Amino acid sequence: MNMAASPMRAAPPIDEAFYSDVLQGLHREQKSLPCKYLYDETGSRLFERICELGDYYVTRTEAAIFEQHLPEMAHCIGPRAVIVEPGAGNCEKVRPLLESLENPAAYIPIDISPEILLAARADIEHRLPGLPVEAAVGDFTCMEAWPTADGTAGLRQVIFFPGSTIGNFDPQQARALLAHFRSRLKRGDGLLIGTDLVKDSVVLERAYHDSAHVTADFNKNLLARINRELDADFDLSLFAHRSFYHPLRQRVEMHLVSLKSHCVSIGGERIAFREGETIHTENSHKYSLAGFAELLRDTGFSPLAHWSDAKQHYAVHYAQAD
Ligand SMILES: C[S@@+](CC[C@H](N)C(=O)[O-])C[C@H]1O[C@@H](n2cnc3c(N)ncnc32)[C@H](O)[C@@H]1O
Repeated sequence: MNMAASPMRAAPPIDEAFYSDVLQGLHREQKSLPCKYLYDETGSRLFERICELGDYYVTRTEAAIFEQHLPEMAHCIGPRAVIVEPGAGNCEKVRPLLESLENPAAYIPIDISPEILLAARADIEHRLPGLPVEAAVGDFTCMEAWPTADGTAGLRQVIFFPGSTIGNFDPQQARALLAHFRSRLKRGDGLLIGTDLVKDSVVLERAYHDSAHVTADFNKNLLARINRELDADFDLSLFAHRSFYHPLRQRVEMHLVSLKSHCVSIGGERIAFREGETIHTENSHKYSLAGFAELLRDTGFSPLAHWSDAKQHYAVHYAQAD
């Protein structure tokens, strides 16, 4: 072999947890993949584009609620608060909140996608000089410890969890996650959290199947990521994006449908797909205002306030740790 013409490239190290989660998910009767893996650098950029789509009412509705009610939210949070944001992404939403708070003590963003988080940290540090920022890369559902900022022990901590990210967890997981958040807080600390609300299925389905096909690219990027990082040979043209609202489960489900029977190799292991078989890649659960308040109470929080839009499409809640 002519080594000069065909230089050897070191294969990227396989992420063992990613590999075992993928194989475990694809061996299930209903094939599934954890949605946190949708967010590599490409996935995070595609998600940013989804947020700008006309069809995706979630981001713009939430932004309008924040814009209208920031002073009330800042009043609930109070002075000298430490803001912790799990799943911070590009940290776009927190900036106006931080700017409206009285003398915030620190900002702690956590995300599984390092590229997007580290760029966002630099941006926040530039725009809010003097605010200590401690960014952490990791899975917020199972990080041993969240980072802390020097000199902030004893100050009020508020977890900021916008974007309806709680909707990506099924009801049991959402309960466990909120209880996990509660365990990180002391009595009197806070949670500012966004939830998408139950609504007309036409509005919901359009949001997750946009006419520009960005959501389809976001969904399929998961297969491209598995090809890139786990030595797999998914043919993306053999899968189609599908999303639909499941009224009984009150959630939008996102799937990838195999268009014909075929096999895929992942790190040497072969996985068979039947024609029409799907990989379930994401859930987006929708809540009622009363149902979410009950969930907050069940997990150790007192709901103190919520803000919604005129169409009642979305809500932001402030709750205090009991
Ligand atoms: C739906 S987006 C929300 C982003 C941003 N907070 C917003 O509201 O626009 C989810 C974000 O959470 C991150 N994420 C998802 N699951 C995660 C996990 N288990 N641990 C850490 N970050 C996670 C993703 O990388 C992504 O940036």
